[in-house]
Amino acid sequence: MGSLHEFENKSVSPIKPLDSEEFRRQGHLIIDFIADYYKNAEKYPVRSQVEPGYLRKRLPESAPYNPEPIETILKDVEEHIVPGITHWQSPNYFAYFPSSGSTAGFLGEMLCSGFNVVGFNWVSSPAATELENIVMDWLGEMLKLPKSFLFSGNGGGVIQGTTCEAILCTIAAARDQTLRKIGTENIGKLVVYGSDQTHSALQKAAHIAGIDPKNFRAIKTSKSSSFCLSPDSLQATIDSDIEDGLIPLFLCATIGTTGITAVDPLQPLCAVAKRYGIWVHIDAAYAGSACICPEFRHFLDGIENADSFSFNAHKWFFTNLDCCCLWVKNPNALIQALSTNPEFLRNKASDSKEVVDYKDWQITLSRRFRALKLWLVLRSYGVVNLRNFLRSHVKMAKVFEELVGSDKRFEMVAPRYFSMVCFRVSPSVLFKTNKYENGKADNDVEKVEKSNEVTENLLQKINASGKAYMSHAIVGGMYVIRFAIGASLTEDHHVTAAWKVVQQHLDAILN
Ligand SMILES: Cc1ncc(COP(=O)(O)O)c(C=O)c1O
Repeated sequence: MGSLHEFENKSVSPIKPLDSEEFRRQGHLIIDFIADYYKNAEKYPVRSQVEPGYLRKRLPESAPYNPEPIETILKDVEEHIVPGITHWQSPNYFAYFPSSGSTAGFLGEMLCSGFNVVGFNWVSSPAATELENIVMDWLGEMLKLPKSFLFSGNGGGVIQGTTCEAILCTIAAARDQTLRKIGTENIGKLVVYGSDQTHSALQKAAHIAGIDPKNFRAIKTSKSSSFCLSPDSLQATIDSDIEDGLIPLFLCATIGTTGITAVDPLQPLCAVAKRYGIWVHIDAAYAGSACICPEFRHFLDGIENADSFSFNAHKWFFTNLDCCCLWVKNPNALIQALSTNPEFLRNKASDSKEVVDYKDWQITLSRRFRALKLWLVLRSYGVVNLRNFLRSHVKMAKVFEELVGSDKRFEMVAPRYFSMVCFRVSPSVLFKTNKYENGKADNDVEKVEKSNEVTENLLQKINASGKAYMSHAIVGGMYVIRFAIGASLTEDHHVTAAWKVVQQHLDAILN
Protein backbone atom coordinates (compact mmCIF):
# COMPACT_ATOMS: atom_id res chain seq x y z
CA MET A 1 0.00 0.00 0.00
CA GLY A 2 1.36 3.42 -0.91
CA SER A 3 1.10 6.24 1.59
CA LEU A 4 -1.11 9.21 0.92
CA HIS A 5 1.97 11.26 0.12
CA GLU A 6 2.88 9.12 -2.87
CA PHE A 7 -0.22 10.47 -4.57
CA GLU A 8 0.27 14.11 -3.58
CA ASN A 9 -1.17 16.47 -6.12
CA LYS A 10 1.64 18.99 -6.48
CA SER A 11 -0.35 21.29 -8.75
CA VAL A 12 -2.84 22.68 -6.18
CA SER A 13 -2.47 26.37 -5.42
CA PRO A 14 -1.41 27.18 -1.85
CA ILE A 15 -4.16 28.18 0.56
CA LYS A 16 -4.42 31.63 2.12
CA PRO A 17 -5.99 30.88 5.49
CA LEU A 18 -6.55 34.53 6.37
CA ASP A 19 -7.42 36.09 3.05
CA SER A 20 -9.46 39.19 3.93
CA GLU A 21 -11.69 39.22 0.88
CA GLU A 22 -12.43 35.52 1.04
CA PHE A 23 -13.21 35.92 4.72
CA ARG A 24 -15.62 38.75 3.93
CA ARG A 25 -17.39 36.66 1.29
CA GLN A 26 -17.61 33.49 3.32
CA GLY A 27 -18.40 35.40 6.50
CA HIS A 28 -21.42 37.00 4.88
CA LEU A 29 -22.65 33.61 3.78
CA ILE A 30 -22.31 32.21 7.27
CA ILE A 31 -23.96 35.21 8.94
CA ASP A 32 -26.85 34.93 6.48
CA PHE A 33 -27.07 31.24 7.25
CA ILE A 34 -27.22 31.86 11.00
CA ALA A 35 -29.66 34.76 10.65
CA ASP A 36 -31.98 32.46 8.68
CA TYR A 37 -31.48 29.78 11.30
CA TYR A 38 -32.66 32.12 14.05
CA LYS A 39 -35.59 33.19 11.91
CA ASN A 40 -36.60 29.58 11.36
CA ALA A 41 -35.56 28.15 14.71
CA GLU A 42 -39.18 27.45 15.55
CA LYS A 43 -39.65 25.15 12.58
CA TYR A 44 -37.30 22.45 13.78
CA PRO A 45 -38.20 19.71 16.28
CA VAL A 46 -36.73 21.21 19.43
CA ARG A 47 -34.98 18.10 20.64
CA SER A 48 -33.04 16.41 17.90
CA GLN A 49 -34.84 13.29 16.76
CA VAL A 50 -31.85 11.40 15.32
CA GLU A 51 -30.65 8.00 16.50
CA PRO A 52 -27.17 7.43 17.96
CA GLY A 53 -24.55 7.03 15.24
CA TYR A 54 -26.64 8.80 12.60
CA LEU A 55 -23.84 11.05 11.41
CA ARG A 56 -21.18 8.46 10.68
CA LYS A 57 -23.60 6.88 8.22
CA ARG A 58 -23.94 10.19 6.39
CA LEU A 59 -20.39 11.58 6.23
CA PRO A 60 -17.39 10.24 4.29
CA GLU A 61 -14.97 7.96 6.08
CA SER A 62 -11.97 10.26 5.79
CA ALA A 63 -11.16 13.94 5.47
CA PRO A 64 -11.25 15.33 1.91
CA TYR A 65 -7.91 15.38 0.15
CA ASN A 66 -8.87 18.31 -2.04
CA PRO A 67 -10.42 21.54 -0.77
CA GLU A 68 -14.18 22.00 -0.85
CA PRO A 69 -16.09 25.25 -1.28
CA ILE A 70 -17.93 26.81 1.65
CA GLU A 71 -21.21 26.51 -0.27
CA THR A 72 -20.88 22.71 -0.33
CA ILE A 73 -19.92 22.60 3.32
CA LEU A 74 -22.89 24.80 4.32
CA LYS A 75 -25.20 22.55 2.36
CA ASP A 76 -23.97 19.63 4.43
CA VAL A 77 -24.46 21.62 7.61
CA GLU A 78 -28.08 22.14 6.61
CA GLU A 79 -28.65 18.54 5.54
CA HIS A 80 -26.64 16.57 8.06
CA ILE A 81 -25.70 18.71 11.04
CA VAL A 82 -28.93 20.63 11.66
CA PRO A 83 -31.01 17.44 12.08
CA GLY A 84 -28.62 16.37 14.83
CA ILE A 85 -28.90 19.66 16.66
CA THR A 86 -31.08 20.15 19.68
CA HIS A 87 -32.27 23.68 19.21
CA TRP A 88 -31.32 25.53 22.36
CA GLN A 89 -32.22 28.82 20.65
CA SER A 90 -35.71 27.63 19.73
CA PRO A 91 -38.49 29.63 21.42
CA ASN A 92 -39.93 26.26 22.44
CA TYR A 93 -36.81 25.26 24.34
CA PHE A 94 -37.53 24.89 28.07
CA ALA A 95 -35.07 22.16 29.10
CA TYR A 96 -32.14 22.15 31.58
CA PHE A 97 -31.31 25.83 31.96
CA PRO A 98 -31.37 28.25 29.04
CA SER A 99 -28.41 29.19 26.90
CA SER A 100 -29.94 32.52 26.05
CA GLY A 101 -28.36 33.79 22.86
CA SER A 102 -28.06 37.38 21.71
CA THR A 103 -26.72 39.28 18.77
CA ALA A 104 -24.37 41.18 21.07
CA GLY A 105 -23.04 37.99 22.64
CA PHE A 106 -22.62 36.38 19.25
CA LEU A 107 -20.82 39.38 17.76
CA GLY A 108 -18.59 39.67 20.81
CA GLU A 109 -17.70 36.02 20.33
CA MET A 110 -16.87 36.83 16.70
CA LEU A 111 -14.54 39.62 17.75
CA CYS A 112 -12.89 37.26 20.22
CA SER A 113 -12.44 34.60 17.54
CA GLY A 114 -11.37 37.22 15.03
CA PHE A 115 -8.56 38.64 17.14
CA ASN A 116 -7.72 35.13 18.28
CA VAL A 117 -5.33 36.31 20.96
CA VAL A 118 -4.07 34.11 23.76
CA GLY A 119 -4.25 36.29 26.84
CA PHE A 120 -2.58 34.13 29.45
CA ASN A 121 -0.82 37.04 31.10
CA TRP A 122 -1.13 40.81 30.91
CA VAL A 123 1.66 41.34 28.42
CA SER A 124 0.31 38.71 26.02
CA SER A 125 -2.62 41.07 25.35
CA PRO A 126 -3.09 43.89 27.86
CA ALA A 127 -6.59 44.74 26.63
CA ALA A 128 -7.80 41.17 27.24
CA THR A 129 -6.79 41.33 30.89
CA GLU A 130 -7.77 44.92 31.55
CA LEU A 131 -11.17 44.65 29.89
CA GLU A 132 -11.85 41.54 31.95
CA ASN A 133 -10.91 43.42 35.15
CA ILE A 134 -13.26 46.22 34.16
CA VAL A 135 -16.29 44.17 33.09
CA MET A 136 -16.00 41.97 36.15
CA ASP A 137 -16.08 45.07 38.35
CA TRP A 138 -19.02 46.47 36.34
CA LEU A 139 -20.94 43.26 36.68
CA GLY A 140 -20.02 42.92 40.34
CA GLU A 141 -21.45 46.39 40.93
CA MET A 142 -24.60 45.50 39.01
CA LEU A 143 -25.02 42.52 41.36
CA LYS A 144 -24.26 44.76 44.34
CA LEU A 145 -21.51 42.39 45.43
CA PRO A 146 -19.66 43.64 48.48
CA LYS A 147 -16.70 45.79 47.46
CA SER A 148 -14.36 43.17 48.90
CA PHE A 149 -15.13 40.98 45.84
CA LEU A 150 -14.12 43.66 43.35
CA PHE A 151 -10.72 44.76 42.08
CA SER A 152 -11.59 48.17 43.42
CA GLY A 153 -11.72 46.56 46.88
CA ASN A 154 -8.77 44.10 46.85
CA GLY A 155 -10.81 41.17 45.57
CA GLY A 156 -11.34 40.45 41.92
CA GLY A 157 -13.20 38.64 39.19
CA VAL A 158 -12.17 36.25 36.46
CA ILE A 159 -14.04 34.70 33.57
CA GLN A 160 -13.77 30.94 33.70
CA GLY A 161 -15.06 28.54 31.09
CA THR A 162 -17.67 26.89 33.28
CA THR A 163 -18.85 26.62 36.86
CA CYS A 164 -17.12 23.23 37.13
CA GLU A 165 -13.80 25.00 36.62
CA ALA A 166 -14.74 27.84 38.97
CA ILE A 167 -15.55 25.43 41.79
CA LEU A 168 -12.43 23.37 41.20
CA CYS A 169 -10.25 26.48 41.33
CA THR A 170 -11.83 27.71 44.55
CA ILE A 171 -11.57 24.30 46.23
CA ALA A 172 -7.89 24.18 45.26
CA ALA A 173 -7.42 27.66 46.74
CA ALA A 174 -9.19 26.70 49.98
CA ARG A 175 -7.32 23.39 50.19
CA ASP A 176 -3.88 24.95 49.85
CA GLN A 177 -4.72 27.77 52.23
CA THR A 178 -5.66 25.22 54.88
CA LEU A 179 -2.83 22.81 54.13
CA ARG A 180 -0.33 25.62 54.59
CA LYS A 181 -1.56 25.79 58.18
CA ILE A 182 -2.03 22.10 59.00
CA GLY A 183 0.51 20.40 56.76
CA THR A 184 -0.01 18.60 53.47
CA GLU A 185 0.05 15.24 55.22
CA ASN A 186 -3.41 16.09 56.56
CA ILE A 187 -5.16 16.35 53.20
CA GLY A 188 -7.04 13.14 54.02
CA LYS A 189 -8.85 14.94 56.84
CA LEU A 190 -10.37 17.74 54.76
CA VAL A 191 -14.14 17.72 54.33
CA VAL A 192 -16.27 19.35 51.61
CA TYR A 193 -19.96 20.16 52.19
CA GLY A 194 -22.93 20.68 49.95
CA SER A 195 -26.49 19.42 49.86
CA ASP A 196 -28.06 16.56 47.97
CA GLN A 197 -29.27 19.29 45.56
CA THR A 198 -25.82 20.77 44.94
CA HIS A 199 -24.62 20.35 41.36
CA SER A 200 -22.41 17.33 40.71
CA ALA A 201 -19.70 19.85 39.80
CA LEU A 202 -18.88 20.04 43.53
CA GLN A 203 -18.28 16.33 43.95
CA LYS A 204 -16.19 16.21 40.80
CA ALA A 205 -14.12 19.21 41.87
CA ALA A 206 -13.58 17.74 45.35
CA HIS A 207 -12.44 14.49 43.77
CA ILE A 208 -10.03 16.19 41.37
CA ALA A 209 -8.69 18.36 44.19
CA GLY A 210 -7.68 15.25 46.10
CA ILE A 211 -10.37 15.31 48.79
CA ASP A 212 -10.97 11.80 50.09
CA PRO A 213 -14.31 10.68 48.57
CA LYS A 214 -15.32 9.55 52.06
CA ASN A 215 -15.11 13.20 53.14
CA PHE A 216 -17.61 14.54 50.67
CA ARG A 217 -20.93 15.45 52.34
CA ALA A 218 -24.12 15.78 50.33
CA ILE A 219 -26.38 16.81 53.21
CA LYS A 220 -29.95 15.62 52.85
CA THR A 221 -32.68 18.16 52.12
CA SER A 222 -36.43 17.71 52.30
CA LYS A 223 -39.65 18.87 50.70
CA SER A 224 -40.75 20.50 53.95
CA SER A 225 -37.88 22.98 53.70
CA SER A 226 -38.22 23.38 49.92
CA PHE A 227 -35.04 21.37 49.35
CA CYS A 228 -32.69 24.01 50.65
CA LEU A 229 -29.67 23.23 52.81
CA SER A 230 -30.55 23.55 56.47
CA PRO A 231 -27.98 25.36 58.65
CA ASP A 232 -28.86 22.98 61.50
CA SER A 233 -28.07 19.96 59.37
CA LEU A 234 -24.81 21.59 58.30
CA GLN A 235 -23.94 22.26 61.94
CA ALA A 236 -24.76 18.67 62.96
CA THR A 237 -22.66 17.25 60.12
CA ILE A 238 -19.71 19.47 61.00
CA ASP A 239 -20.00 18.52 64.69
CA SER A 240 -19.89 14.87 63.81
CA ASP A 241 -16.90 15.33 61.48
CA ILE A 242 -14.96 17.26 64.09
CA GLU A 243 -15.68 14.55 66.61
CA ASP A 244 -14.16 12.10 64.15
CA GLY A 245 -10.99 14.17 63.92
CA LEU A 246 -11.77 15.59 60.48
CA ILE A 247 -11.27 19.19 59.31
CA PRO A 248 -14.12 21.13 57.64
CA LEU A 249 -12.78 22.85 54.52
CA PHE A 250 -15.32 24.04 51.98
CA LEU A 251 -19.02 24.69 51.66
CA CYS A 252 -20.83 25.20 48.38
CA ALA A 253 -24.17 26.98 48.84
CA THR A 254 -26.44 27.30 45.84
CA ILE A 255 -28.77 30.06 44.75
CA GLY A 256 -31.07 28.27 42.30
CA THR A 257 -30.23 24.58 42.44
CA THR A 258 -30.21 22.67 39.20
CA GLY A 259 -33.06 20.33 40.06
CA ILE A 260 -35.70 22.74 41.28
CA THR A 261 -33.98 26.15 41.79
CA ALA A 262 -33.93 25.83 45.56
CA VAL A 263 -32.23 28.69 47.38
CA ASP A 264 -29.86 27.92 50.23
CA PRO A 265 -30.08 30.47 53.08
CA LEU A 266 -26.74 32.26 52.85
CA GLN A 267 -26.81 34.23 56.04
CA PRO A 268 -27.19 31.36 58.54
CA LEU A 269 -25.06 28.98 56.46
CA CYS A 270 -22.20 31.48 56.34
CA ALA A 271 -22.59 32.06 60.07
CA VAL A 272 -22.09 28.34 60.72
CA ALA A 273 -19.20 28.10 58.27
CA LYS A 274 -17.43 31.13 59.70
CA ARG A 275 -17.08 29.49 63.10
CA TYR A 276 -14.81 26.87 61.54
CA GLY A 277 -12.97 28.97 58.98
CA ILE A 278 -14.71 27.11 56.16
CA TRP A 279 -14.36 28.60 52.66
CA VAL A 280 -17.87 29.37 51.38
CA HIS A 281 -18.47 29.36 47.66
CA ILE A 282 -21.82 30.51 46.30
CA ASP A 283 -22.89 28.81 43.11
CA ALA A 284 -25.57 30.86 41.36
CA ALA A 285 -24.89 29.40 37.92
CA TYR A 286 -28.38 30.08 36.57
CA ALA A 287 -30.13 32.36 39.05
CA GLY A 288 -27.26 34.78 39.61
CA SER A 289 -28.35 36.81 36.58
CA ALA A 290 -31.69 37.66 38.16
CA CYS A 291 -29.87 39.28 41.08
CA ILE A 292 -29.08 42.33 38.92
CA CYS A 293 -32.77 43.20 39.47
CA PRO A 294 -33.31 44.94 42.83
CA GLU A 295 -36.31 42.72 43.59
CA PHE A 296 -34.16 39.56 43.39
CA ARG A 297 -31.00 40.86 45.01
CA HIS A 298 -32.14 39.72 48.47
CA PHE A 299 -31.31 36.14 47.46
CA LEU A 300 -27.66 37.15 47.81
CA ASP A 301 -28.06 38.65 51.28
CA GLY A 302 -25.34 37.15 53.42
CA ILE A 303 -22.82 37.02 50.58
CA GLU A 304 -20.61 39.42 52.52
CA ASN A 305 -19.52 36.46 54.64
CA ALA A 306 -18.74 34.19 51.69
CA ASP A 307 -15.35 33.80 50.04
CA SER A 308 -16.29 33.35 46.39
CA PHE A 309 -19.27 33.65 44.10
CA SER A 310 -19.93 32.52 40.55
CA PHE A 311 -22.64 32.63 37.95
CA ASN A 312 -22.82 31.61 34.31
CA ALA A 313 -23.36 34.53 31.96
CA HIS A 314 -23.70 31.83 29.30
CA LYS A 315 -26.88 30.54 30.88
CA TRP A 316 -29.43 33.29 31.41
CA PHE A 317 -27.42 36.40 30.59
CA PHE A 318 -27.33 36.56 26.79
CA THR A 319 -23.62 35.84 26.55
CA ASN A 320 -22.51 32.98 24.35
CA LEU A 321 -20.90 29.91 25.85
CA ASP A 322 -18.50 29.89 27.57
CA CYS A 323 -18.59 32.58 30.21
CA CYS A 324 -18.62 31.74 33.91
CA CYS A 325 -18.03 34.80 36.07
CA LEU A 326 -16.17 34.08 39.30
CA TRP A 327 -15.32 36.58 42.02
CA VAL A 328 -13.07 35.94 44.98
CA LYS A 329 -12.31 38.03 48.03
CA ASN A 330 -8.76 36.82 48.24
CA PRO A 331 -7.18 36.46 44.79
CA ASN A 332 -3.90 35.51 46.45
CA ALA A 333 -5.41 32.27 47.67
CA LEU A 334 -6.26 31.40 44.06
CA ILE A 335 -2.87 32.50 42.81
CA GLN A 336 -1.00 30.51 45.44
CA ALA A 337 -2.85 27.37 44.37
CA LEU A 338 -2.74 27.88 40.62
CA SER A 339 0.31 29.87 39.58
CA THR A 340 3.28 28.62 37.62
CA ASN A 341 6.16 30.80 36.52
CA PRO A 342 8.14 29.25 33.70
CA GLU A 343 11.04 31.34 32.43
CA PHE A 344 9.57 31.74 28.94
CA LEU A 345 6.67 33.73 30.43
CA ARG A 346 8.76 36.10 32.53
CA ASN A 347 8.30 39.78 31.72
CA LYS A 348 8.68 43.16 33.36
CA ALA A 349 4.98 43.78 33.93
CA SER A 350 4.48 40.47 35.75
CA ASP A 351 7.62 40.99 37.81
CA SER A 352 6.33 44.40 38.86
CA LYS A 353 3.26 42.69 40.38
CA GLU A 354 1.18 45.60 39.14
CA VAL A 355 -0.81 43.56 36.66
CA VAL A 356 -3.20 40.63 36.78
CA ASP A 357 -1.90 37.50 35.10
CA TYR A 358 -5.05 35.48 34.66
CA LYS A 359 -3.16 32.26 33.95
CA ASP A 360 -2.72 32.14 37.74
CA TRP A 361 -6.47 32.38 38.40
CA GLN A 362 -7.52 29.34 36.40
CA ILE A 363 -6.60 25.79 35.40
CA THR A 364 -5.33 26.34 31.90
CA LEU A 365 -2.54 28.57 30.67
CA SER A 366 -4.01 29.72 27.37
CA ARG A 367 -7.22 31.68 27.53
CA ARG A 368 -9.63 33.39 25.18
CA PHE A 369 -10.59 37.06 25.16
CA ARG A 370 -13.99 36.27 26.65
CA ALA A 371 -14.46 39.69 28.22
CA LEU A 372 -15.28 41.13 24.79
CA LYS A 373 -18.60 39.34 24.52
CA LEU A 374 -19.64 40.29 28.02
CA TRP A 375 -18.64 43.89 27.32
CA LEU A 376 -20.73 43.89 24.15
CA VAL A 377 -23.72 42.44 26.00
CA LEU A 378 -23.50 45.00 28.80
CA ARG A 379 -23.00 47.94 26.44
CA SER A 380 -25.42 46.92 23.71
CA TYR A 381 -28.36 46.30 26.04
CA GLY A 382 -27.59 48.35 29.13
CA VAL A 383 -28.65 47.38 32.63
CA VAL A 384 -32.19 48.59 32.00
CA ASN A 385 -32.89 46.18 29.14
CA LEU A 386 -31.09 43.27 30.75
CA ARG A 387 -33.24 43.63 33.85
CA ASN A 388 -36.44 43.95 31.86
CA PHE A 389 -35.66 40.97 29.68
CA LEU A 390 -34.99 38.77 32.69
CA ARG A 391 -38.21 40.03 34.25
CA SER A 392 -40.15 39.15 31.12
CA HIS A 393 -39.02 35.53 31.53
CA VAL A 394 -40.02 35.51 35.17
CA LYS A 395 -43.40 36.89 34.21
CA MET A 396 -43.90 34.14 31.64
CA ALA A 397 -42.95 31.57 34.27
CA LYS A 398 -45.61 33.02 36.57
CA VAL A 399 -48.19 32.57 33.83
CA PHE A 400 -47.11 28.98 33.32
CA GLU A 401 -47.26 28.40 37.07
CA GLU A 402 -50.86 29.67 37.07
CA LEU A 403 -51.71 27.35 34.20
CA VAL A 404 -50.31 24.39 36.14
CA GLY A 405 -52.30 25.49 39.17
CA SER A 406 -55.50 25.72 37.17
CA ASP A 407 -55.42 22.05 36.11
CA LYS A 408 -56.08 19.77 39.06
CA ARG A 409 -54.29 16.88 37.40
CA PHE A 410 -50.97 18.59 38.06
CA GLU A 411 -49.16 19.94 41.06
CA MET A 412 -46.20 22.20 41.68
CA VAL A 413 -43.36 20.41 43.40
CA ALA A 414 -41.38 23.34 44.73
CA PRO A 415 -41.78 27.10 44.99
CA ARG A 416 -40.99 29.07 41.86
CA TYR A 417 -38.51 31.84 42.55
CA PHE A 418 -37.16 32.63 39.10
CA SER A 419 -38.12 31.54 35.60
CA MET A 420 -38.39 27.80 36.16
CA VAL A 421 -41.54 25.89 37.08
CA CYS A 422 -41.31 22.34 38.47
CA PHE A 423 -44.42 20.23 38.33
CA ARG A 424 -45.61 16.66 38.19
CA VAL A 425 -48.76 14.69 37.58
CA SER A 426 -50.58 14.75 40.89
CA PRO A 427 -50.57 11.33 42.59
CA SER A 428 -53.95 11.87 44.29
CA VAL A 429 -55.75 12.91 41.14
CA LEU A 430 -54.14 10.12 39.19
CA PHE A 431 -55.89 7.49 41.22
CA LYS A 432 -59.25 8.99 40.54
CA THR A 433 -58.92 8.57 36.80
CA ASN A 434 -60.51 5.61 35.03
CA LYS A 435 -57.25 4.05 34.14
CA TYR A 436 -56.14 3.60 37.71
CA GLU A 437 -59.41 3.45 39.62
CA ASN A 438 -59.20 -0.30 40.07
CA GLY A 439 -55.56 -0.18 41.10
CA LYS A 440 -54.63 -1.24 44.58
CA ALA A 441 -52.54 1.81 45.12
CA ASP A 442 -53.67 2.92 48.50
CA ASN A 443 -50.41 3.84 50.09
CA ASP A 444 -48.16 6.80 49.47
CA VAL A 445 -45.23 4.88 48.02
CA GLU A 446 -47.35 3.32 45.33
CA LYS A 447 -48.98 6.63 44.57
CA VAL A 448 -45.64 8.36 44.18
CA GLU A 449 -44.35 5.55 42.00
CA LYS A 450 -47.38 5.81 39.78
CA SER A 451 -47.05 9.57 39.55
CA ASN A 452 -43.38 9.15 38.69
CA GLU A 453 -44.20 6.65 35.97
CA VAL A 454 -46.91 8.80 34.39
CA THR A 455 -44.90 12.02 34.67
CA GLU A 456 -41.88 10.40 33.04
CA ASN A 457 -44.03 8.95 30.30
CA LEU A 458 -45.61 12.35 29.76
CA LEU A 459 -42.23 14.06 29.45
CA GLN A 460 -41.01 11.48 26.95
CA LYS A 461 -44.09 12.01 24.81
CA ILE A 462 -43.78 15.80 24.92
CA ASN A 463 -40.13 15.69 23.89
CA ALA A 464 -40.69 13.09 21.19
CA SER A 465 -43.31 15.39 19.67
CA GLY A 466 -40.59 17.93 18.91
CA LYS A 467 -43.02 20.72 19.77
CA ALA A 468 -41.37 21.66 23.02
CA TYR A 469 -38.42 20.44 25.01
CA MET A 470 -38.41 20.14 28.79
CA SER A 471 -36.21 18.12 31.12
CA HIS A 472 -36.60 16.39 34.45
CA ALA A 473 -35.22 16.05 37.93
CA ILE A 474 -35.83 13.60 40.75
CA VAL A 475 -36.18 15.32 44.11
CA GLY A 476 -37.27 13.67 47.33
CA GLY A 477 -38.13 10.57 45.30
CA MET A 478 -40.46 12.54 43.02
CA TYR A 479 -40.00 12.62 39.26
CA VAL A 480 -40.62 16.22 38.18
CA ILE A 481 -40.79 18.07 34.90
CA ARG A 482 -38.62 21.18 34.81
CA PHE A 483 -39.97 23.96 32.61
CA ALA A 484 -37.21 26.57 32.37
CA ILE A 485 -37.91 29.77 30.48
CA GLY A 486 -35.00 31.82 29.19
CA ALA A 487 -34.53 31.19 25.48
CA SER A 488 -34.26 34.66 23.95
CA LEU A 489 -36.88 34.00 21.27
CA THR A 490 -39.57 32.74 23.66
CA GLU A 491 -42.73 34.86 23.81
CA ASP A 492 -45.96 34.53 25.80
CA HIS A 493 -47.68 32.50 23.12
CA HIS A 494 -44.91 29.87 23.09
CA VAL A 495 -45.46 29.33 26.78
CA THR A 496 -49.22 28.87 26.45
CA ALA A 497 -48.69 26.61 23.43
CA ALA A 498 -46.23 24.49 25.40
CA TRP A 499 -48.80 24.15 28.17
CA LYS A 500 -51.35 22.89 25.65
CA VAL A 501 -48.81 20.30 24.48
CA VAL A 502 -48.45 19.15 28.09
CA GLN A 503 -52.20 18.89 28.58
CA GLN A 504 -52.87 17.14 25.27
CA HIS A 505 -50.29 14.47 25.99
CA LEU A 506 -51.63 13.87 29.46
CA ASP A 507 -55.15 13.57 27.98
CA ALA A 508 -53.85 10.92 25.60
CA ILE A 509 -52.05 9.00 28.34
CA LEU A 510 -55.02 8.99 30.71
CA ASN A 511 -57.56 8.09 28.09
C1 LIG B 1 -26.40 25.29 39.94
C2 LIG B 1 -25.44 24.81 38.89
N1 LIG B 1 -24.14 24.70 39.18
C3 LIG B 1 -23.26 24.29 38.28
C4 LIG B 1 -23.63 23.96 37.00
C5 LIG B 1 -22.61 23.49 36.03
O1 LIG B 1 -22.33 24.51 35.15
P1 LIG B 1 -21.19 24.39 34.06
O2 LIG B 1 -21.75 23.55 32.97
O3 LIG B 1 -20.94 25.80 33.65
O4 LIG B 1 -20.01 23.76 34.70
C6 LIG B 1 -24.96 24.05 36.64
C7 LIG B 1 -25.42 23.70 35.30
O5 LIG B 1 -26.56 23.70 34.96
C8 LIG B 1 -25.90 24.48 37.61
O6 LIG B 1 -27.20 24.56 37.33
